[in-house]
Amino acid sequence: MTRPQVYITRRIPERAFEVLREHAEIKVWDSDLPVPREILLKEVADADGLLCLLTEKVDAELLNAAPRLKVVSNMAVGFDNIDVAECTRRGIPVGNTPGVLTEATADLTWALLLAAARRIREAIDYVREGRWITWGPMLLLGQDVYGATIGIIGMGRIGTAVARRAKGFNMRILYHDVRRNEAAEAELGAVFVDMDTLLRESDFITIHTDLNPSTYRLINREAFAKMKPTAVLVNAARGPIVDTEALYEALKEGRIFAAALDVTDPEPLPADHPLLQLPNCMVVPHIGSATVTTRNRMAEIAALNVLAGLRGERLPYCVNP
Ligand code: DGY
Repeated sequence: MTRPQVYITRRIPERAFEVLREHAEIKVWDSDLPVPREILLKEVADADGLLCLLTEKVDAELLNAAPRLKVVSNMAVGFDNIDVAECTRRGIPVGNTPGVLTEATADLTWALLLAAARRIREAIDYVREGRWITWGPMLLLGQDVYGATIGIIGMGRIGTAVARRAKGFNMRILYHDVRRNEAAEAELGAVFVDMDTLLRESDFITIHTDLNPSTYRLINREAFAKMKPTAVLVNAARGPIVDTEALYEALKEGRIFAAALDVTDPEPLPADHPLLQLPNCMVVPHIGSATVTTRNRMAEIAALNVLAGLRGERLPYCVNP
């Protein structure tokens, strides 16, 4: 009997191969850079399973090029790169990797929040550039975190994990979501508010919602106009949730205090992008889930999703409605 073919679109942790090796022929784009689209379209021609990343657009064109495809497995919790409706129409299950990256992403959110609040990027540059002459009573003054108000947009797994950490900083926790999270309210005293209240009252605003038509450019000029001049914005979700031009203006004109971004629009952000010239903006390259343990777990779940799909079983983590 011929073994099913699985195409993996990047070099990923070995754990995925350990799960799949016995059961399938694996072909991998063995690189740290994304597979070019024209190669991907050729490679999927005889694939039964596709293990892909958020850098691959899985749309009708790709599905047309992959007549044998039985399963699409995204090694990410987000899946805005995949046309799930089109996959569903064709009877193809789509998997993702929720849960295992929650704590790593919440940790990174907090690293960004603290660094932006206390101007750590500027402080490091200050020392490295030889400008540190003396202790300064007015030097690099930031914003207090302890006891401040945090506004969390998207109170799912990651938003709740961010809120748990906020509790340790004795913060007032506001949140907005399309649905109430009563468990977070009971556990953490988080208060559900409308977007306007969140924007106006929060000292720190962190974004953890998924990208969809209703969250596209949710944080736009009007939203920035409502924020405090001392507000810090952290985006650890998807770049296009924030209007980049509006963010640039808000930071440049001091309408908010600072921003720290793990995700950008466009992504990757070109090295000469004006945002990177601003002292009050910090950008890291989409590393929310980038720890050894987390990435191993993501690879494992992505592979288990593929395996289930090849066998015609329900995927352990399936996003089709
Ligand atoms: C995800 O999983 O969606 C992150 O953006 C990458 O880990």
